[in-house]
Order: sequence, then C-alpha cells, then structure tokens
Amino acid sequence: MDFDTVLRRRRMHRAFSTEPVGLADVVALCEAAFRAPSAGFTQGTELVIITKPERIQAILTLITTEGWLEASRTHRGLRQSQVLILPIVNKPAYLSRYAEADKVRSDLSNGHKWPQPYWIVDASFATMQLLLKVVDLGLGATFMGIYHGHDDLAELLEIPAGMDPLGIVCIGHPSDEAPTGSPSRRERREVATRIHFERW
Ligand SMILES: Cc1cc2nc3c(=O)[nH]c(=O)nc-3n(C[C@H](O)[C@H](O)[C@H](O)COP(=O)(O)O)c2cc1C
Repeated sequence: MDFDTVLRRRRMHRAFSTEPVGLADVVALCEAAFRAPSAGFTQGTELVIITKPERIQAILTLITTEGWLEASRTHRGLRQSQVLILPIVNKPAYLSRYAEADKVRSDLSNGHKWPQPYWIVDASFATMQLLLKVVDLGLGATFMGIYHGHDDLAELLEIPAGMDPLGIVCIGHPSDEAPTGSPSRRERREVATRIHFERW
C-alpha cells in the first residue's frame, strides 16, 4: 500500500470479525515496531503478544469496569480482538544506556534532567509504526489506555518490576464501517491552525 494511503486510512478500529490474524502478520507488526528510532539506539521497547482467546478476554475484562465492554456501543466489538500487543516502556534500559561511556557526559543516567522521558517517546514511536503496519496489512487496531487493573495486568503477564505497559493495541480484521469514538463527535482541526511558521 502506498504511504499516503496508509496515512489516510489509519484510524482506530474498535470492532473486528472473528477471522484470525496470522502469525506472519504478527511477526511483521513486531518488525515494523522495532524499526522505530530509539534514543541512543537503546532499543528499550519490548512487546508482549497475546494470542490465546481466553487470555485476550481475561485482559479485556481486567482493564475495564464490570459490564462496561458488553454494554458499550463503541467498544463491544473489541471482544473479537484476535491479538493484543502491549508495548512495554523500559525506563531502566535508558538509565543503563545513558551511563555507558559514549553517553555518560549527558548526565542523564541518574534519572533526572531528561529533556523528555525518552523511554515513553521510544515506546510511542514504536507503537505508531506498529499501527501503520496494521493498516498496510489490511488489519485494524485500536490503542487503549490502561485505566483499570494495571497491577493485576502486570502480575498476569509477569512483567518485571520497573517495566510498564504503554497501553494495549487490540488487533483484528476490521468490521466497523464508519469511524467511532471522538472523531465521530469532533471536527478535525484545520491544518493551518496547528502550524507556526518560523515562530509560535
Ligand atoms: C495516548 C492515547 C490513548 C488512547 N486511549 C484510548 C482508549 O483508551 N480507548 C479508545 O477507544 N481509544 C483510545 N485512543 C484513540 C483515540 O481516541 C483516537 O486516536 C482519536 O480519537 C483519533 O481517532 P483516530 O485514531 O481514529 O483517527 C487513544 C489514543 C492515544 C494516542
């Protein structure tokens, strides 16, 4: 698919068919994510892949309040997610990397003075590449924040201390025809109102 088409078609899909997502596609998504840039080439972001249906349902239940998903007009189609991918924010990897000889003079290894939290920047870049590859493969996805059950989720997935899921990417073959969520209620801002030439 040509790049402009990928950009134009990218949106969050919140309803999927029961068609499985093949393992080759899952691998391609991981490879796309790992082609993303990373600060100091730390490559800190890791991915947890969930494909077992009972684990997918358990995770969706954990991260939502009881009965909400079934009742939600916009989100109940996520129960047909065929794969969940959790990008894992790995702050310790950045603290270690910036203590290495070629980075130590930046004085960032103590956890302070970072211009931005690079571990989150990198996990976000990787997630975005994954979301674009989803479109390229003819799949659909939505990125969900983890508002509930964070600690139980970390325990279920045996995520080591210090590592943190950025969110959950729910993936499947799209079955929703029209955009859902905020874009169905809010106008897209005019490009010109978001660009500041030469100064703010
Ligand atoms: C940081 C972040 C958190 C988000 N959290 C959720 C979420 O919890 N549930 C959801 O349905 N969509 C979530 N979204 C998707 C946004 O609602 C969506 O990207 C936005 O409305 C624009 O729509 P589009 O991506 O379809 O163009 C999130 C997006 C981002 C970037």
